[in-house]
Amino acid sequence: MTMAKAIEHQRNGYTGTARLLHWVTAALVLYQIPVGILIANFELGPLYDLHKSVGTLILLLTIIRLAWRWAHPAPTLPDHIPVAQRHAAVAMHWGLYALLLVQTLIGWIGTAAYPAPVPFFGLFEFPQIWWDDRPLSDRLFALHFWIGILIAVLLVGHIGAALYHHFVRQDEVLQRMLRGEVAS
Ligand code: HEM
Ligand code: HEM
Repeated sequence: MTMAKAIEHQRNGYTGTARLLHWVTAALVLYQIPVGILIANFELGPLYDLHKSVGTLILLLTIIRLAWRWAHPAPTLPDHIPVAQRHAAVAMHWGLYALLLVQTLIGWIGTAAYPAPVPFFGLFEFPQIWWDDRPLSDRLFALHFWIGILIAVLLVGHIGAALYHHFVRQDEVLQRMLRGEVAS
C-alpha cells in the first residue's frame, strides 16, 4: 500500500478503538439516564451503587476516549455533506464530550458533598473529592437532573442524524462508526 493510500485508508472510518469506546459509552449512557431517574424516585438500593459505578466508568472511558481522539483525529466527513451540517456535527460531538465530563463530575462531587460513598463495582471506593456540604449537594443534584435531560435531548438529535444519514441519505456516515473503513 502506498503512503497516500495508507492515509486515505486510515481516514475513511473510525479506528477499532474509537468504535469500541463509542459503542460501550453509548450503551452505558443509554442505561444511565432512565436508571438515574428511577433511583432518584424509588427505593432501589443496589441500582443506586450501580449508577455511581457506571457513571464513574463513563468518566474514565471519556477521558481515555479524548486521549485516543487527540492522537487519532476523526476521519474527515464525506465531501457531499453541507458546511452547516459539518459544523452541527462538530458542535454536537464536542458538546456531548463536555456534557459527559461535566455530568459525571457533578455526580461525583454531589455524592461526596452529601456525603455518601462512590463505589466502583464493589472493588474499591473513589476518594471523597469534596467536603460535607448538603445544600451544595442538593443544588448539584438539581443540576444533575437537568444536564441528564439535556444529554437525552442532544442524543435524540445525534441518533436521529445517524439514522437519517443511513436510511434517508443512504451515505457512509453510520458505517464509519459501525464497521470502520468504508468503500467509497
Ligand atoms: C448514547 C450515547 C452516545 C454518545 C454519548 C455518543 C457520542 C458520540 C461522540 C462524542 C461522537 C464523536 C466521535 C468523534 O469524532 O470523536 C460520536 C460519533 C458518532 N456517533 Fe455517537 N454517541 C452515542 C450514541 C450513538 C448511537 C446510538 C448512534 C447510532 C444510532 C451513534 C452514531 C454515531 C456516528 C455514526 C458517529 C460518527 C459520525 C461521523 O462520522 O462523524 N451514536 N458519537
Ligand atoms: C453520564 C453519566 C451520568 C448520567 C447521564 C446521569 C444521569 C442521572 C439522572 C438523569 C438522574 C436522575 C435525577 C433526578 O431525577 O433527580 C441521576 C441521579 C443520580 N445520579 Fe447520576 N448520572 C451520571 C453519572 C453519575 C455519577 C458519576 C454519579 C456519582 C458518582 C451519579 C450519582 C447520582 C445519584 C446519587 C443520583 C440520585 C440523586 C437523588 O437521589 O436525588 N451520577 N443521574
